[in-house]
Amino acid sequence: MPEKSFADALNEQVANEFAASQQYVGAAVYYDAETLPRLAHFFYRQALEEREHAMMMIQYLLDVDEEVRIPDIKSQQTSYDDGVAPVRMALEQEKVVGEEIYALFELARETKDYRAEQFMQWFVKEQVEEVALMHDLLNVVERSKDNLLLVEDYMARENPGGGDDPTAPPAAGGSM
Ligand SMILES: [Fe+2]
Ligand SMILES: [Fe+2]
Repeated sequence: MPEKSFADALNEQVANEFAASQQYVGAAVYYDAETLPRLAHFFYRQALEEREHAMMMIQYLLDVDEEVRIPDIKSQQTSYDDGVAPVRMALEQEKVVGEEIYALFELARETKDYRAEQFMQWFVKEQVEEVALMHDLLNVVERSKDNLLLVEDYMARENPGGGDDPTAPPAAGGSM
């Protein structure tokens, strides 16, 4: 048997999702201070999405009658060397989360926890989208790093990452 229960591992992921949310607030604050409001808005919204992921996991733990642990808040970076760095950080971050999600999926499978496996499926799909989103944004930001106002235009025009997903699992406290 694996040494960790799925509920323990999911509680750890709740902490990771909240940390990602805080990290994105840090990136948003950086862009806001640079007067790049569209990039700021994008990261504020991503921060809410990460919080929502944590709340979905909390709802699941409540539904299956497992203990929920709410983690401490760790301070996050709000200054960066240049306008590309937060997006590079975000892409790396999303790749790491992808690995964490696969590990949870694997644990669910190993322990024959079918409801957990089914729950994790949405997150597998979500990570494909999140990595692609940050990858696209990194392309645009790198191409326009000497004039981030071009990125602002792109964000206004394309609204990357916008729109609801009706297949998302329910979140504790209701959706945002
Ligand atoms: Fe997430
Ligand atoms: Fe994410």
